[in-house]
Amino acid sequence: MQIRENISLKPYNTFGIDAKARWFAEAQTTEEIIAFLTGPDEPRHPLLILGGGSNVLFTKDFPGTVLKISTKGITVADENEDEVLVRANAGEQWDDLVRFCVEKGWGGLENMSLIPGNAGTSPVQNIGAYGVEIKDRLVELTSWDLQTNVKKIFTNEECRFGYRDSIFKTIYKGRYVILDVTFRLKKNPVLCLDYGNIKDELVAMNIEKPDIAAVREAVCTIRRRKLPDPLVAGNAGSFFKNPVIPESQFLELKEKFLAIVSFPQNDGIKLAAAWLIESCGWKGKREGDAGVHPNQPLVLVNYGNATGQEILQLSQEVKDSVYQKFGVLLETEVNVI
Ligand code: FAD
Ligand code: EPU
Repeated sequence: MQIRENISLKPYNTFGIDAKARWFAEAQTTEEIIAFLTGPDEPRHPLLILGGGSNVLFTKDFPGTVLKISTKGITVADENEDEVLVRANAGEQWDDLVRFCVEKGWGGLENMSLIPGNAGTSPVQNIGAYGVEIKDRLVELTSWDLQTNVKKIFTNEECRFGYRDSIFKTIYKGRYVILDVTFRLKKNPVLCLDYGNIKDELVAMNIEKPDIAAVREAVCTIRRRKLPDPLVAGNAGSFFKNPVIPESQFLELKEKFLAIVSFPQNDGIKLAAAWLIESCGWKGKREGDAGVHPNQPLVLVNYGNATGQEILQLSQEVKDSVYQKFGVLLETEVNVI
């Protein structure tokens, strides 16, 4: 594997931030990853594992080695009449995997169509959209332990998934390299149509009896309408998580702010961060090339030459004003590096 020096990361992150990696290598096979991590050319630290770069914000040049994971391959690990276990190597693009499964008629991932990034990154923040999360479908994943240099399998339960959260974002941050992921899919799919405006979209498409291909198309249409294309304006999707607050705090807020948008959860009330941010007047605001998106204020954008520091500064201003107005702390979803 070639190790290159002083490489611009601009093409490798969807924010389009022009930071440099001191060393940069790209793995095309799982064997290459392991050989690189254990061999004589062992990477110089710090080490950053990079997938599609769609959930990172580089705020400075990276002083160590960036290892980009581009290991392709989808296989059937097991199947019976009803179910199929599909395994993808970490560098397979997430949406290529979703499309592959939908084309085969295997249901379960279609609501998560068009999420950018690698399949192998999907467990890191338990990606989700339109009512389905990775935790609902993942059986297990194989990883490489950077501390002990052995493979380790994590079951679904061991990943400790939560809303945009897993063990790989918390206590094991940076310790494991995910090598492959396995999902349980249904040959006779049960559709999930209850979230958001999927049903309305299917009606608009004149589809009375939807299948997983129709759901995929509906989700893709909604997403293309709502979310900015990183090729047009650099972004990493939602910059913040939707905050989950205790019911007592919510009731106080609801008295003062009648229109507050909320969704009840098992562990509290989830607020629409987009509504909170819009209510503070941020929607469409711009500071130089860093901005708050005019259609979806949860998304911060780089209109051209913003630096990571400028995006970070804007995110802090948004957080401060939401906290001042509502007493609610927004948590950053994106990995700030
Ligand atoms: P990267 O940005 O490359 O990495 C993210 C983190 O994971 C980093 O900390 C990195 O070190 C670590 N990492 C990467 N690969 C590995 C590995 N193999 N092993 C261990 N650690 C690893 N997310 C959602 O959940 N739902 C959405 O609907 C959604 N919509 C989006 C829309 C847009 C337009 C964009 C730009 C992003 C969106 N996202 C969404 C966020 C993003 O797509 C996901 O978080 C995705 O899983 C990131 O994958 P990646 O490969 O690009 O990760
Ligand atoms: N809203 C406003 N103003 C706006 C836009 C939205 O007030 O300008 C309110 C609306 O009331 C709307 C609510 O916010 O009902 C929620 O908006 P939306 O349906 O667009 O979803 P979201 O909460 O902003 C979340 C995820 C997305 C995921 C979608 C669909 C988080 C942080 N974000 O966005 O995931 O695609 O739901 O499931 O949970 C990501 O994680 O990067 C991401 C894009």
